[in-house]
Amino acid sequence: MKQKGIERPVIIGVAADSGCGKSTFLRRVLNIFGAQVSKAHTPQGDFITVICLDDYHYHDRKGRKVANVTALDEKANNFTLMAAQVKALKEGKAIYKPIYNHDTGEHDPSELIEPNHLVVIEGLHPMYDPRVAELLDLSVYMDVSDEVKLSWKVQRDMAERGHTLENILASIESRKPDFAQFVDPQKKKADIVLNILPTQLVPDDKENKYLRVQMIQREAATNFAKVSIFDEGSTIDWVPCGRKLSCSYPGIKFHYGPDSYFGEDVTVLEMDGVVEKLDEMIYVESHLNNTETKFYGEMTQQLLKNPTAPGTFNGTGLFQVLIALKMREVYEKCTGRKLSVN
Ligand code: ADP
Ligand code: G6P
Repeated sequence: MKQKGIERPVIIGVAADSGCGKSTFLRRVLNIFGAQVSKAHTPQGDFITVICLDDYHYHDRKGRKVANVTALDEKANNFTLMAAQVKALKEGKAIYKPIYNHDTGEHDPSELIEPNHLVVIEGLHPMYDPRVAELLDLSVYMDVSDEVKLSWKVQRDMAERGHTLENILASIESRKPDFAQFVDPQKKKADIVLNILPTQLVPDDKENKYLRVQMIQREAATNFAKVSIFDEGSTIDWVPCGRKLSCSYPGIKFHYGPDSYFGEDVTVLEMDGVVEKLDEMIYVESHLNNTETKFYGEMTQQLLKNPTAPGTFNGTGLFQVLIALKMREVYEKCTGRKLSVN
């Protein structure tokens, strides 16, 4: 039986390797929807439920060792169950979802997940299996280049978890073949790719302090309007530093234009560098089209809500907020409902 008031559950997939900013991004998404989410294993609020696909690992940690597979391998994940359960949620039915416990490396007893207005499935493989991929109303892939991934891992695992550089490098290397085979190819199918690259503004930014970030929007995706700068369809390079935007070293550079991505037509928005004063992003926002904000300055306000979140001052913050706004747009398009502002 369908839960009252949920006519058309909307399902969004967010794919990324671990340590690539998913949690930070999802916090921004929850802010846009004003969702109050409980701290249960699977965060389930009145409106939005976030499911981590690690829960569909076939084996526990020991089992993976015995079978000699990594968690990234197709064989290590129960896609048949994933597809059946995501389909059930889309049909407005409750499920008993498995739980993979990262602390113990074993499965905990399954939990009841009620259907919800918006369900985000996040993890390594939301678009890997066609049965799951075809249920998605929007798919997002967060692509962090190897250099940047290494910097973030070093920053987190060395500084906060006491790992050695050798260990971090070895763990990254050991994941590479399976990552390339099972995770990375999903970006070719994604409606939106958040592409995080080293800066081109600083010659040798070894620590990747600055970033060049792209929001790649697949033209064939019809559920949302593509964001553009100034004039839709043009190719534009824009250095906004000057009277209306303060820029200290290394400044900011935007690029916008059509491109091709794995043979598909896309529109690319790019920001390289950092903003100095976050509230001045309103100047950039006023030159963006199709953001689907509900009032003037909403995008900047969202950035100002999370000033200390990683990436708020560079393109990751800007594009994460824009993608979250696109999620809201997709929700409204699919359901015909209009959400109020949070
Ligand atoms: P995930 O949920 O995918 O594991 P997190 O959002 O927890 O990733 O981010 C992991 C770490 O990566 C953060 O603690 C931070 O050090 C770094 N990080 C993530 N996003 C950014 C960013 N945009 N800019 C700089 N560092 C980032
Ligand atoms: C990687 C993957 C996770 C997976 C984990 C399992 O980090 O990115 O998605 O759940 O491996 O590792 P574990 O430490 O629990 O064996």
